[in-house]
Amino acid sequence: MLDYVADKMQDEAKQGEAFAPFASDPTQYKKRFYIESYGCQMNFADSEIVASILNTEGFGATRNVGEADLIFINTCSIREKAEQTVRKRLTEFKKLKEQKKGMLVGVLGCMAERLKSKFLEEEKLVDIVVGPDAYRSLPGLVYEAEEGQKAVNVLLSREETYADISPVRLDSNGVTAFVSIMRGCNNMCSFCVVPFTRGRERSRDAESIVNECKDLFEKGYREVTLLGQNVDSYYYTPQPLKGSLSKTPITFAILLEQVALISPELRVRFSTSHPKDITDDVLHTMAKYDNICNYIHLPVQSGSTRILQLMNRIYTREWYKAKVDRIKEIIPDCGISSDVIAGFCTEEENDHRDTLSIMEYSKYDMSYMFVYSERPGTLAERRYKDDVPEEVKKRRLVEIVELQNRLSLESNKKDIGKTFNILIESDSKRSDKDWMGRNSQNKVVVFPKEYYNLNKGDYVFVEVNDCTQATLLGKIIIKQNATETQKR
Ligand code: SAH
Ligand code: SF4
Ligand code: F3S
Repeated sequence: MLDYVADKMQDEAKQGEAFAPFASDPTQYKKRFYIESYGCQMNFADSEIVASILNTEGFGATRNVGEADLIFINTCSIREKAEQTVRKRLTEFKKLKEQKKGMLVGVLGCMAERLKSKFLEEEKLVDIVVGPDAYRSLPGLVYEAEEGQKAVNVLLSREETYADISPVRLDSNGVTAFVSIMRGCNNMCSFCVVPFTRGRERSRDAESIVNECKDLFEKGYREVTLLGQNVDSYYYTPQPLKGSLSKTPITFAILLEQVALISPELRVRFSTSHPKDITDDVLHTMAKYDNICNYIHLPVQSGSTRILQLMNRIYTREWYKAKVDRIKEIIPDCGISSDVIAGFCTEEENDHRDTLSIMEYSKYDMSYMFVYSERPGTLAERRYKDDVPEEVKKRRLVEIVELQNRLSLESNKKDIGKTFNILIESDSKRSDKDWMGRNSQNKVVVFPKEYYNLNKGDYVFVEVNDCTQATLLGKIIIKQNATETQKR
């Protein structure tokens, strides 16, 4: 069971082996870089910003690490295991470095921010260290490292949003894309390292977000996911036009509407929603536009009010349950998923049972589930003892995973016999005779291509006739224009 969680995390990491397309003429570039990403979607989105900055400098991407002059690893610090994975990769890269003179290795992202120049002191594993707000300085740091200087920039910024940088889409399916709408986090969940590695929260210029989404749509993309650690606190005040005093602030609900209005054929998703911040305005906007997907990732973390307080999540068990009720009231067919932590400091069996029962109450379609991992510098590390024994944490996680497996299967079984509008993303993993797509609720649906002449990026109606715990299986009913019925 634990392997299942580990596999899932590994899958997430693998997706990170992201590369820009090969250049037709390799000599057109000054240098070749290879970039591998770990962690959350924001990190993957950042790698696309990094690729864009490096492209502008005349550096080109490669899929082949052996052919690279520069190796970058975009890192995550969220749990100790995430950092161990990065260290393992760095020792593998070290071997390559020894074989190829002049090859440089750079650490980007959250682990770079957390460990700063300590990295450079460690057994010459790394030549360049760059934090999430300092990517514009990357080309300069590459040249400094070539000269043998210490190349470090881990300054956090209150303003940087990379709003003007057009990301180079790495390893994209050409249908779905992530768009960062904000950076940093002002919440201080006591277990979490993100506020320290990503800095203060800031919202990106709304116009640049809408323009990026429009551009994606024009290039054939049919789904955007708006990204932030806490999207509901998005808040941007535009500069007033010359001669006008109007400076209407843009909230997340307004932004969502502006993106939804680009085209009814562009699906809009977002992540992550903090239960304390998601508003009725957002829920009503979701209900109003068929192309805003009926799916909310609403991490609960724990079902015990006492533990939630220690976690500094601000909401109680009752508040969370009321939020779930409100979502179902305004958007009855909304899919909900969660993040759950097992074994936070002082967690007792009754707290754990509260977590299981809130999962049952919320009927999550899917969850990401973790054992608590103490992170240096966090509030929890400073204030509380990590006192739940490892085997107890693991046993509780197994119970959480087993419950989620049952809930996922039950949720999928309820969909048998229903017809959904599916956006086709790719061939299915198992067979190129089947398509893989998602319904509005973000469930993966696999169905035979049959004789229909469809392509990825098309919408199609699929009737579900079977399921596993992770996937709906079905058959095509009829192809229709998304504008007629986006969501069912
Ligand atoms: N901003 C998002 C979550 C970002 S981190 C939110 O507020 O929900 C993704 C998930 O990792 C968290 O939701 C949490 O469940 C988990 N996580 C974060 N820190 C952790 C830690 N120290 N140990 C175990 N899991 C952790
Ligand atoms: Fe971490 Fe909490 Fe911010 Fe999410 S909201 S990134 S869990 S501090
Ligand atoms: Fe990891 Fe940083 Fe994201 S710590 S989860 S990569 S914000």
